[in-house]
Amino acid sequence: MKILVTGGAGFIGSNFIFYMLDQHPDYDIVCLDALTYAGNLETLEHVMDNDNFKFIKGDIRDRDFIFDLFKKENFDMVVNFAAESHVDRSIKDPGVFLETNILGTQVLMAACREYGIKRFHQVSTDEVYGDLPLDKPDLMFTEETSITTSSPYSASKASADLLVEAYHRTFNLPVTISRCSNNYGPYQFPEKLIPLMISKALAEEELPVYGKGENVRDWLYVKDHCEAIDLILHKGQQGEVYNIGGHNERSNLEVVKTILNELDKPESLITFVEDRAGHDLRYAIDPTKISEELDWEPTILFDQGIKKTIKWYLDNEEWWQNILSGEYQDYYQKMYGDKQGDKR
Ligand code: NAD
Ligand code: DAU
Repeated sequence: MKILVTGGAGFIGSNFIFYMLDQHPDYDIVCLDALTYAGNLETLEHVMDNDNFKFIKGDIRDRDFIFDLFKKENFDMVVNFAAESHVDRSIKDPGVFLETNILGTQVLMAACREYGIKRFHQVSTDEVYGDLPLDKPDLMFTEETSITTSSPYSASKASADLLVEAYHRTFNLPVTISRCSNNYGPYQFPEKLIPLMISKALAEEELPVYGKGENVRDWLYVKDHCEAIDLILHKGQQGEVYNIGGHNERSNLEVVKTILNELDKPESLITFVEDRAGHDLRYAIDPTKISEELDWEPTILFDQGIKKTIKWYLDNEEWWQNILSGEYQDYYQKMYGDKQGDKR
């Protein structure tokens, strides 16, 4: 089995590669990543020498490059993590979100059609369902919830999902889609809430909480997400959507206070700043379908997972300090110079 993992130098994609190499030592995993600001080759350093792993630098928007790659590699499956993923950046500069998240996905599916594939899996998000009110805790997103987006990011992810469904219906492409809640864990880029707040707390800098900090997210430890995608690839039904989440809702203020408490830092570091435009109030996933049909359950509760995550950031300070200093962006150049294509 040869699997193409796009966006594998990012947070969830890299964790997925580690998970798959560990769970399926007989599979070949090829990582394709454009190494945007969010891609970090240092993250993949410890698997670079694995004979079952190959890294290729490339852009999913580049049709000729993608078609050549598919022709050469003969992939069995594609798992598409590659995306612009940060809501705040999509508010500042939406264009690239449309190009990568929508057009890039279409290029990949066109290559899948041309060269054949057993499965194209699209990694989507609960943000395509819009948001839920804070005062109705029983309401949750199911796979039947209508698509209603708030940010250019979520609109681009929803557009990609619709295209994936269209490729299934019109061209019979064997697809699956997963829609997951907020992930946290090792190797998350420190622009996202949890790693940002850990790094700020350690530096004893102000922790910027948007609005009143009352917005709620449904946190999922990244390894549980990886396990769910593995199950969908092997047991999921073509053409189906699976929600992934684990009933771990917390307000942003609760999350930030927990981090400060774990690091023994004062709550006076919390600073309330201007709210995000169009800020979604609450996300909450109903995972009944994946739980009943594929027997998936999250294994790590938030109170456990946040401790593991903080410990990881404490033990791996060099990894995120290199990001904050910008040094990680020199890594590829230092290691590979101007060489293009396969890196082993
Ligand atoms: P990330 O920003 O950490 O990583 C994205 C990766 O994609 C980076 O390595 C980047 O270099 C690469 N990339 C960007 N544009 C590319 C292009 N044009 N061609 C090739 N590679 C490109 O993102 P993440 O948090 O790991 O999210 C991965 C996927 O999961 C995304 O599709 C995102 O929408 C989805 N998702 C994320 C979360 C979350 O909480 N982080 C939750 C649900 C779904
Ligand atoms: O729900 C899944 C989504 O989760 C994914 O699709 C996205 O790719 C991923 O980035 C994430 O989106 P969010 O917008 O929920 O994540 P973020 O970490 O940016 O913010 C989490 C919450 O914290 C949100 O309510 C905004 C708030 N926040 C964020 C930052 C960066 C703050 O209060 N202060 C901050 O500085």
